Amino acid sequence: MARIPDAFIDDLLARSDIVEIIGARIPLKRQGKEYSARCPFHDERSPSFTVSPTKQFYHCFGCGAHGTAISFLMNYERLEFLDAVEELAKRLGVEVPRDTQQRNANPDTNDLYGAVEAAAKFFRKQLGGSAKAQAYLDGRDVSAAIREQFMIGYAPDGFSALKDALGGDERRMRLLERAGLFSKNERGHVYDKFRDRVMFPIFDRRGRVIAFGGRVLEKDDSPKYLNSPETPLFHKGRELYGLWQVRQANQKIERLLVVEGYMDVVALFQHGVTQAVATLGTATTPDHAELLFRNAPDVFFCFDGDRAGRSAAWKAVESVLPRMKDGRQAFFLFLPEGEDPDTLVRSEGRDGFEARLRNATPLSQFFFDSLGADVNLATLEGKGRLAERAKPLLAQIPDGAFGDLMKQRLTELTGVGARAAAPETHVPAQRANARMPAPQANKPSLVRTAITLLLQQPAVALAVPSSLHFASLEQPGIDLLVEMIELVQQRPDISTGLILEHFADRAEAGALTKLAMTRGVESTAVTAADARLFEDEEKHRQSFVDNIARLEAQALQQRIDNLQSRRRELVEAELQELRELLMLRAQNVR
Ligand code: UTP
Ligand code: MN
Repeated sequence: MARIPDAFIDDLLARSDIVEIIGARIPLKRQGKEYSARCPFHDERSPSFTVSPTKQFYHCFGCGAHGTAISFLMNYERLEFLDAVEELAKRLGVEVPRDTQQRNANPDTNDLYGAVEAAAKFFRKQLGGSAKAQAYLDGRDVSAAIREQFMIGYAPDGFSALKDALGGDERRMRLLERAGLFSKNERGHVYDKFRDRVMFPIFDRRGRVIAFGGRVLEKDDSPKYLNSPETPLFHKGRELYGLWQVRQANQKIERLLVVEGYMDVVALFQHGVTQAVATLGTATTPDHAELLFRNAPDVFFCFDGDRAGRSAAWKAVESVLPRMKDGRQAFFLFLPEGEDPDTLVRSEGRDGFEARLRNATPLSQFFFDSLGADVNLATLEGKGRLAERAKPLLAQIPDGAFGDLMKQRLTELTGVGARAAAPETHVPAQRANARMPAPQANKPSLVRTAITLLLQQPAVALAVPSSLHFASLEQPGIDLLVEMIELVQQRPDISTGLILEHFADRAEAGALTKLAMTRGVESTAVTAADARLFEDEEKHRQSFVDNIARLEAQALQQRIDNLQSRRRELVEAELQELRELLMLRAQNVR
């Protein structure tokens, strides 16, 4: 992801109004200090979507969707991070700092795009001059419009067609090499990587060519497809062939189909199924899954019906489960032996293919069928095994109705619930004291209260000193609190929403979101004492300062106790420290 300075983002969000941005897209109703609406990210009848102008943050109590104006634009408009930032910047009439747009930062990178683009144009032109390549595409019934739309080309035979045409000088040679367009033999001789192949340019999400796939013309040549290597522009695990064209062809992308090959995407397109993308000779990665669902709520994975196809489908399941937020659906379509989407759509037409999609297997079914394939559910042993296999996987599904239903299904099948395993197993190992302190009836811990206050009004963290002794306390949540204070001190304009985003990958993320949303909203996780805290800003700041002071006092006392318990062994420096601490304590007590 492009690196934009945090300070720029903080400022951008501080100057944008989230209510205005969301309000321009969905109808918001004022409710006290906040606004509410029916959530745009899941189906609901009564509004549980809240937008807070003071926290510059939205949150849905139904599906858990939440974030800043930037994440709203990303999710609602399906924008990439950089594009969402640009959208906000445009509204404010400011420019995204140029030298920090990573991709543009490096003049070399810009030139690299230029070099790949030039190669694509060269291949495109060569196709026009090659009767044999055209005959191949004719033979596969690829229309002229599709050749144009996908910028299909031809890399001529011989070892230096591209090199001769575009490698004019040292610098250009270097660029083409970095763009992955050359190979090198043992003697260091450089020659064209793609020779006598039909060329499929791979576009990035902004429509720039970043790489190629090249197919042989003769069926016995090998490898059948040659792809560009990984380059600074191209990481195959993160790109989807055809996504650019899908986005061009569809106003709103209701679904995406994931197929295996270039020709599958192209043929489906030509027959009117304009939502197909291909992974590039790899399994579906988690990055792919994220990209897919960011673009469409429903994703259909098409695989061969054979064993390899099923194992590829299972890889997709593993990448998709952690991304199955409510409102998202995944389906699996297994194709008959010897067929692929290309051959099927040609023989059955669009309607035939659509009919297959309607009968695709839902993720839930494929999941339990696959895990239960070799167990006997009539026996306790079999049920036990299924439960053991399913639990850690189900625990990866984000909280929500889909996850609940999957767990319920496991219980139906085995009589064993997935509940117990759920909360912790999917969380990366955390230090014990990194966990959030649990609320105790009406008496939240100092740490919990401090975190809540900071989330409600991040600027309070500026009112405490930068080096704090309480960091040494062994209490749940201390590390998190210290981290949050440091974050705000480094980024004084940071909003609540951004803080939450900063910690979004952490085990505590859910708890933090609840604490952030305390005000004016009923939430069982937050105690009455929490709610009383937020009278006004100054009081709020004072509460935070007092809170930290009490933690500091605890830390002081803890150190004093520690030193006193070892009194006899103390070295001179420690004795001195103890004297100072005792004085400090006396002053504090006043
Ligand atoms: P297939 O071998 O199934 O080919 O590879 P296909 O898409 O049906 O191709 P046609 O119809 O014969 O032209 C599926 C995908 O796997 C990757 C390519 O992305 C290809 O589209 N692949 C396959 C490679 O990267 N290299 C290969 O040698 C073969
Ligand atoms: Mn094929």
